[in-house]
Amino acid sequence: MTDTSTAPDSSSPSGQTTHFGFQTVEEGLKQKKVAEVFSSVAQKYDIMNDMMSFGLHRLWKAFTIRLSGVREGDRVLDVAGGTADLSLAFAKRVGESGQVWLTDINHDMLSRGRDRLIDKGISLPIAQCDAEKLPFPESSFDCVTVAFGLRNMTHKDIALAEMRRVLRPGGRLLVLEFSQVCKPLSPLYDLYSFKLLPWMGEKVVGDADSYRYLAESIRRHPAQEELKTMMEKAGLAKVDYFNLSAGIVAVHRGYRI
Ligand SMILES: C[S@@+](CC[C@H](N)C(=O)[O-])C[C@H]1O[C@@H](n2cnc3c(N)ncnc32)[C@H](O)[C@@H]1O
Repeated sequence: MTDTSTAPDSSSPSGQTTHFGFQTVEEGLKQKKVAEVFSSVAQKYDIMNDMMSFGLHRLWKAFTIRLSGVREGDRVLDVAGGTADLSLAFAKRVGESGQVWLTDINHDMLSRGRDRLIDKGISLPIAQCDAEKLPFPESSFDCVTVAFGLRNMTHKDIALAEMRRVLRPGGRLLVLEFSQVCKPLSPLYDLYSFKLLPWMGEKVVGDADSYRYLAESIRRHPAQEELKTMMEKAGLAKVDYFNLSAGIVAVHRGYRI
């Protein structure tokens, strides 16, 4: 596994603040706190995903992969790829003539991903790196994806611009992320997120706080139209999005032209 992470020194306060769930924290601290969350949940991450979403995350990811239009021979970058769900699926699509890079800032998540790839007999390059400073030259990929990762990033605008930079002209970025659920479902969704999720986190992983952060970070994440505007500001063109499961998640797609 290549470690190319160039995370800023969290001990040197920038003076700027940002959100970590519902808390306001020093910018430098957010990355450290996000790292603690994912290191804590890494071993049980996949089983929790199935339990929390009743398996729906598999359908959301399958939809994203179909929408990507990735074909044999393509080069794909999976940003914040964690335990490698998307990378695994893309590896099958691109075949021997293509290439998929699994990347993430968190070593524990990537280790799980690497183990899952080995179990399935799939070999692909893995790099530990920050989405805000991708260690790839301009125009390297046909497709870049980020699934449930953008929400956790400190400077989403910088990360989006980086993901655009490494796309070839005509290449596309797909962002799969929690979004704004349709209004009538809100009360039920709130009950589920703020009561049941932390309870499940405590029972299964022994960590209620990480799943409380999940619920809070979803509420802090830009809704569908706002994220579309952010992608456009980052230089992506023809941005559109698809609501899935009544807006619980949305897939945004944009092109580098
Ligand atoms: C909820 S997991 C998603 C994993 C995987 N993409 C999936 O859909 O199952 C979010 C991932 O984002 C990663 N992450 C958070 N901030 C990041 C950053 N600045 N750069 C790269 N990865 C980051 C975390 O380490 C974590 O593995």
